[in-house]
Amino acid sequence: TLAKATPEGARDYLVPSRVNKGKFYALPQSPQIFKQLFMISGFDRYMQVVKCYRDEDLRKDRQPEFTQIDIEMSFVNQDDVLEVNEKFVKYLMKEVMGVDIKIPFRRLTYEEAMNKFGSDKPDLRFGLELQDVTEIVKKSDFKIFQEAEIVKCIVVDKSFSRKEIDKLTELVKIYKAKGLAYLPGNFEGGISKFVSSIKENITKSLNLKEGRTAFFVADKANVVYDALGALRNELAEKLGLTKEGYEFAWVIDFPMFEWSEEENRYVSMHHPFTMPKVNSAKELDGDLSKIPSIAHDLTLNGVEVAGGSVRIHDEEIQSKIFDLLGISKEEARKKFGFLLDALSYGAPPHAGIAYGLDRLVMLLTGSSSIREVIAFPKTKNAEDLMMDAPSDVTKEQLDELGLKKG
Ligand code: AMO
Ligand code: AMP
Repeated sequence: TLAKATPEGARDYLVPSRVNKGKFYALPQSPQIFKQLFMISGFDRYMQVVKCYRDEDLRKDRQPEFTQIDIEMSFVNQDDVLEVNEKFVKYLMKEVMGVDIKIPFRRLTYEEAMNKFGSDKPDLRFGLELQDVTEIVKKSDFKIFQEAEIVKCIVVDKSFSRKEIDKLTELVKIYKAKGLAYLPGNFEGGISKFVSSIKENITKSLNLKEGRTAFFVADKANVVYDALGALRNELAEKLGLTKEGYEFAWVIDFPMFEWSEEENRYVSMHHPFTMPKVNSAKELDGDLSKIPSIAHDLTLNGVEVAGGSVRIHDEEIQSKIFDLLGISKEEARKKFGFLLDALSYGAPPHAGIAYGLDRLVMLLTGSSSIREVIAFPKTKNAEDLMMDAPSDVTKEQLDELGLKKG
């Protein structure tokens, strides 16, 4: 694992080299490039339980140092990968949990997942699907609705107090929503007076009635998805709709690229070795947001437990993708020259996936945090409080490495 930067998109943990002063190894964020090199060199099957390192903001399902079950196969297509993994998960659930699960798993496209559930890792143990009302509410007297890019809503079987609504409004604001409009089924309060002109249409479309409430967010699509996706989970929890059990589902057809506000450019949604759904490099000209990829995530009860893709095995397409990501020819050579060379020798079609092992164990043991299932976990600030790591080192150690304290 003393390696070189890999492209999973998080920050690298760096290790200074004593022998090559001023130079650094990077601890791999995954063995992605290594497993592809194995395929290209003629191994046709690979599986490894492996440590990965990512310097990113920690959450209840994320640690800086975690374990993957990493898999790669040659001469396969996406269906092969999904089918092998369904059998693997079925076996695992039987052996470890004594639970029979049904395969094949439900498959959702990314678009469908976002539209219906506001998330690319939807919890399918309950309904509460998002409904699109953009066109219906355009005819209302509510300016925010008339002018929004999209308006979506969730309808639940419950009336809410002012205090409860305020709490839910706070929640959607975390996801950058400007507010949370609500409409009680009896048309008393909330945005009732703004939508009285379309009362009949909206009542019928949403099947509204006394005792039910509709919640709306109007905004740019991404904000609406994030806010209502989070609200959906919260409402299910509040109403006790979450059934016991294991609902696995594949999410496929992810976009190849996503726009990064921070970097002001397109970045890979998965990683830059993911195969775009095109027949030739020429099809990659045009609107980058519209290009789908042959990637797949496995979700369980609202958590992404595994992710993977079919890989690019053609040097021309790989170079083009680097180009589209704003990685110059020189930079691509410097960072991934060994991979580009390997591809130029003639690579077999290959594809794979990696499971977050700790994350899966967290879910299967019903734990509330990944820290519960790792022997010596780090805190939210990436500290090991027992060993007191990270910690200061001596001046001699720094000198030996050619480093100066900043
Ligand atoms: P990806 O980045 O999606 O794909 O990671 C695969 C799986 O690893 C888990 N995971 C984590 N678990 C705990 N803490 C973290 N910080 C963390 N980050 C990720 C998730 C995730 O689904 N090389 C590709 C795989 C491939 O394309 O084959 C990769 O690493 O459960
Ligand atoms: P206001 O006109 O700002 O008082 O908002 C009236 C109601 O609409 C409040 O309940 C707000 O929370 C809600 N609201 C404001 N902006 C939005 C929005 N973009 N989407 C959904 N509801 C909103």
